[in-house]
Amino acid sequence: MQIIAHRGASGTAPENTITAFQLALDAGVSGIELDVQMVSGVAVVLHDRWLQKTTNGMGLTQDIDLAYLQSLDAGGGQSVPRLGDVLQLINGSCLVNIELKAPDCELAVLAEIEYALAALNFSVEQFLISSFNHHSLQKIKQLAPELKLGALTANLPLSYAQFATDIQAWSVHCAIDFIDQAFVDDAHQRGLQVWVYTVNQIEDIDAMLKLGVDAIFTDYPSRSIQYLNSI
Ligand code: G3P
Ligand code: CA
Repeated sequence: MQIIAHRGASGTAPENTITAFQLALDAGVSGIELDVQMVSGVAVVLHDRWLQKTTNGMGLTQDIDLAYLQSLDAGGGQSVPRLGDVLQLINGSCLVNIELKAPDCELAVLAEIEYALAALNFSVEQFLISSFNHHSLQKIKQLAPELKLGALTANLPLSYAQFATDIQAWSVHCAIDFIDQAFVDDAHQRGLQVWVYTVNQIEDIDAMLKLGVDAIFTDYPSRSIQYLNSI
């Protein structure tokens, strides 16, 4: 089972910051998950539209410019990084799961990936684009069919992982609250990877191993890797 750092090592450093991503790299993760919002046409790594959720700013991403965003404290004196900054840091060391949080961010994200593939040490299979917005994923499939897609769901649809098959996803990402054996088996029969968020407790890691999921998103990658190595 692979360990994916959720918003970086967000249990021990401010989420979606360079420090959180560096800690995840130091832990030796298989992948790093991050969230993308748009500010002034630039893809930035931030979970929420509302700045006050994770920074000392106020208001909505759509109402500010990049200079204002970069003047804010996202924790520990760090600013909100641009997607390009984070890709430069990771530089092909592990998989990057880019979660699209904003409408119409597809072109900006694809431009960053294109740059990373040309100028950094990434290979195309090291990118996985996910979203709860499956229309957004469909757009990515049309524009860049070579990229892997992760179909996110917060619930357990009646038709199990059919929604992921419909958009030719590579993986389905399900909330731990709802995952069960029938969903895992259905997804695997469809040839999909099953990734589960957010798995922070040892008992939950054990449960995910038992279900046979392929990867977990965790806020504590270092201790999760240590635990898996110890059993
Ligand atoms: O990508 C898995 C997980 O991060 C989705 O939910 O709210 O943490 O972005 P959220
Ligand atoms: Ca996320």
